Amino acid sequence: MSGELTVIVLAAGGGTRMKSKTMKVLHPVAGRSMVGHVLAAVQQVEPRRIVAVVGHQRDQVGPHIHALVPEALLATQEEQHGTGHAVRIAMEAVAAAGEVPGGTVLVAYADTPLLEAASLRRFAEEHEAAQRAVSILSGMVADPSGYGRVVRNEDGEVEGIVEEQDATDEQRAVREINSGILAFDAAFLIEALPKLSNDNAKGEYYLTDTVHLAREAGLHVGAHEIADVMQTEGVNDRVQLARTGRVMNERIVTRWMEAGVSVMDPATTWIDADVVLNPDVTLLPGVQLLGATVVEEDAVIGPDTTLKDCEIGAGARVIRTHGELAVIGGGAKVGPFAYLRPGTTLGIGGKIGTFVETKNAQIGDGAKVPHLSYVGDAVIGEGSNIGAGTVFANYDGAEKHRTVVGRHAKTGANNTFVAPVEVGDGAGTAGGTVVRRDVPPGALAVSGGPQRNLPRWALTKRAGTAQADAAAAALEAVED
Ligand code: UD1
Ligand code: CA
Repeated sequence: MSGELTVIVLAAGGGTRMKSKTMKVLHPVAGRSMVGHVLAAVQQVEPRRIVAVVGHQRDQVGPHIHALVPEALLATQEEQHGTGHAVRIAMEAVAAAGEVPGGTVLVAYADTPLLEAASLRRFAEEHEAAQRAVSILSGMVADPSGYGRVVRNEDGEVEGIVEEQDATDEQRAVREINSGILAFDAAFLIEALPKLSNDNAKGEYYLTDTVHLAREAGLHVGAHEIADVMQTEGVNDRVQLARTGRVMNERIVTRWMEAGVSVMDPATTWIDADVVLNPDVTLLPGVQLLGATVVEEDAVIGPDTTLKDCEIGAGARVIRTHGELAVIGGGAKVGPFAYLRPGTTLGIGGKIGTFVETKNAQIGDGAKVPHLSYVGDAVIGEGSNIGAGTVFANYDGAEKHRTVVGRHAKTGANNTFVAPVEVGDGAGTAGGTVVRRDVPPGALAVSGGPQRNLPRWALTKRAGTAQADAAAAALEAVED
């Protein structure tokens, strides 16, 4: 920006149409709160000062805004008497902080997550270049109901904004609407705010009345039409929330495709705003990448996989998996049907296979847990192989304990490791072993006693059943 810029973000309204315990602007779109999206766009314009006006549920909204933008100034609007009242409170907070804003003041709403920084910047620049007292970011819409209409004279000059409830039938037919985003010359705004009245249909102080005031003072006003009206659309209910989420997702998915990611089915691929992907990643249908997930190049994810806050290494393959806070090494294979819980790490070239659940498990390079297992609170050294159907019994009913399996160990199918227990490097266990005591390096653990067969048991104990009949027939055939 050329001159000094202050941005006011209005976030005091209640959002009753959301019918939610959660304040409207805290609802997430692509994994980030609506107000978080607006603040991110605002920050990219590099204003000198950001002021957020909070009111409803400010105990939640205020700290949330401060966590995202610690230097933002919070202004409290106890009761919502309109956008003009909210901006006055914001300007008073700036003055109370000992600052005298000069240059341009931009006003935006916290419930327009699709707003892009480039649009804000262009708008502010045009406002400054035209040396206006007020500029309106306007939009042409098919159905203008509910919006303030931009009223122009015969020469096409902007005369003012008329709110729906105060408009004549002729004004209501106007399809050019006020998006709500306005730019002001700071000195004009400071003078105009105390002059606003609430003598209107809603009994509110309308910020939009500043346009009339500027005209009366013989100052320049104007409107800048935004081509992509969706960017300024506010979210008022859950239907709009879903629609906005879809548009946001389309934007994010398109951006990653442009950056070299293959997305087989954009319509069923959901990527949160803070996810990072790399070139030549492939996403198959039904993939959700959430939170702070990072996927390195050449990895193939999906189909039907959800990963939240996961790191997936280069060339890894993750199939039909649900993962959270897991780190998967390069070239590793996961799934199909794996459940990676927090604290899972899998080394380079390792495997977490079919119907395997892992939690707080560090599985080394090249180590494999291929089938039907639960691995909780465990370390498995590099190159080790865990047999099918193994349970790491980490919980004794009171406390959780760890199991440590060394390097290049080979454990048999259907083992139970009763933690705390350690299996040494290069050790092994026989099928069906219940490992209760440590296994020294290189040893083979066998826990079951020798097998005992009770002859003709079924014939007496299961007499009269199909089992007994089958046994009798087989024995007869042998005896004949
Ligand atoms: C406002 C505009 C209207 C515009 C529309 C775009 C005014 C008078 N009208 O109307 O021209 O077409 O937005 O969506 O400005 N807010 C506060 N404190 C208040 C009042 C509002 O923080 O006292 C916040 C709300 O939380 C909301 C925004 O300001 O984010 C707009 O308020 P809202 O009451 O929805 O204004 P509209 O009647 O929709
Ligand atoms: Ca509104």
